[in-house]
Amino acid sequence: MFEAFDASIDRGLPKPERYRDLAKSLESLLEGESDPLANLANASGLLATALERINWCGFYLLRSGELVLGPFQGKPACVRIALGEGVCGTSAARRETLVVADVHAFPGHIACDAASRSEIVVPILENGNLRGVLDVDAPDKNRFDEEDRAGLEEFVRVLTPRVAWERV
Ligand code: SME
Repeated sequence: MFEAFDASIDRGLPKPERYRDLAKSLESLLEGESDPLANLANASGLLATALERINWCGFYLLRSGELVLGPFQGKPACVRIALGEGVCGTSAARRETLVVADVHAFPGHIACDAASRSEIVVPILENGNLRGVLDVDAPDKNRFDEEDRAGLEEFVRVLTPRVAWERV
């Protein structure tokens, strides 16, 4: 029987160690399962419980050349984002992580939740193929730093081979 999953993130630890624990929690959460929707949904749920001071986290998936909303936690969000558009589309087009300290200063930012002030987007690349992005939004400016970037990139590295992307 399924037991409630305890992410066991000790909030007293330094951030890099908390992200290491988070990556381990993700591994055990997804162990033995490759269903894409289930794993992306649980990954977004894990992030929402583990990260403080965020108001939205989830995935946009590449479908027929555009980003389409996938599993997430937070308020309902815009469904389709073209490559090159907004923070998500720019990160996907450039295939690089974007850390945006103040979303109001980012040209073309798409405001899904008016509460969002800063944002980080990590592209998901499987063997060089773009599969989508992980997007995390925060209600404070400057919420994400280099430790968050490294930690969330590691989170995506652990997640990517555990999702059957061809079935998404
Ligand atoms: N702000 C994002 C859109 C997605 S929502 O924040 C969930 C962007 O500019 O790409």
